Amino acid sequence: MEWKTKITEMLGIKYPIIQGSYGGFGTSAIAAPVSEAGGLGMITASALKTPEGLRDDIKKARSFTDKPICVNLTVGMCPHIDEMREVAIEEGIPVVETSAFQATDHGKRLKEAGVKWIHKVATVKHAIVAERQGADAIVIVGMEGIGFKSVDQLPTLTSITWAAKQIKTPLIAAGGISDARGFLASLAMGAEAAYLGTAFMCTKECPIPDRHKQYLADVAPSDPKIMKKVLSPPDPKDLEKVMKLKGKIPHSEWLMKLERVLLKEDPDYHELPEEINEEVLMLAPGSLAVSGLDKVLTAKELIDSIIHGAEEILQKGVFASIRA
Ligand SMILES: Cc1cc2nc3c(=O)[nH]c(=O)nc-3n(C[C@H](O)[C@H](O)[C@H](O)COP(=O)(O)O)c2cc1C
Repeated sequence: MEWKTKITEMLGIKYPIIQGSYGGFGTSAIAAPVSEAGGLGMITASALKTPEGLRDDIKKARSFTDKPICVNLTVGMCPHIDEMREVAIEEGIPVVETSAFQATDHGKRLKEAGVKWIHKVATVKHAIVAERQGADAIVIVGMEGIGFKSVDQLPTLTSITWAAKQIKTPLIAAGGISDARGFLASLAMGAEAAYLGTAFMCTKECPIPDRHKQYLADVAPSDPKIMKKVLSPPDPKDLEKVMKLKGKIPHSEWLMKLERVLLKEDPDYHELPEEINEEVLMLAPGSLAVSGLDKVLTAKELIDSIIHGAEEILQKGVFASIRA
């Protein structure tokens, strides 16, 4: 089957599957194998810390694959963000994702340089703004997902179907997606690609400890630790405290504090092994996407299992029984 969507055509990729960005460890180690396997791999600029580090990592990715690779610029959290953006442009990166906060100026500059601009948001309201600002594609992360949360975030199903009615810009569905069914559902909801964060963390190439990957493969989405982090609202007192700090401390520091409050601190962190770095610890429980994970695969095996599973469903799965 040929998996042709507006996103595969726009970005020149084989499958409409995009790997999420990871602040602490989103390097070419995971991005290159995802791209080589036909998805869109993502190098997260903040994981490389410096523009020189990003340039070296893009070159490293290039030595592994000649397929398109994306660079993520997380606004407010990525150090030297303007220089990082320029490195992505100079190194011929064809598509850049911005996230976490408005990125109008970055988007404008990227488009002027002929680079496709994807912006990632957590709400339909912000997706509409991104469309107005000229984003070439928009990722909406539903509340099943992890990362930067929003207090008025809706579930993935509602976000994508609602946005598809209002937005013409190609949409990318994120939040809780990790297998063939979630992938097909994304396209059925009106998205042109599926975006997977937690699922690609559970692959052999992802540079995090094996123990954490195995945890993602074993844990149930109903685990209270995951549900608390992903689905429960932030403590109103903590949120109020952080909101009062807005404009009074550096913006990046404030965004960091806000993310922590939105994700709720997990009291069990101290029970996790020391070798897991702090960044991983911060987001340790994963998202509801763990529902579709049961084995640590290579990035290629994960992509192939999603594509083959989706083709099987289309050929003889639920849709076949509905036709009968
Ligand atoms: C450990 C971890 C770190 C992340 N860091 C970032 C980041 O720095 N910038 C960003 O835009 N999103 C970040 N995200 C969010 C993911 O890119 C993606 O939006 C999210 O994982 C999608 O939901 P899913 O996990 O259910 O697939 C992070 C997610 C995880 C799990």
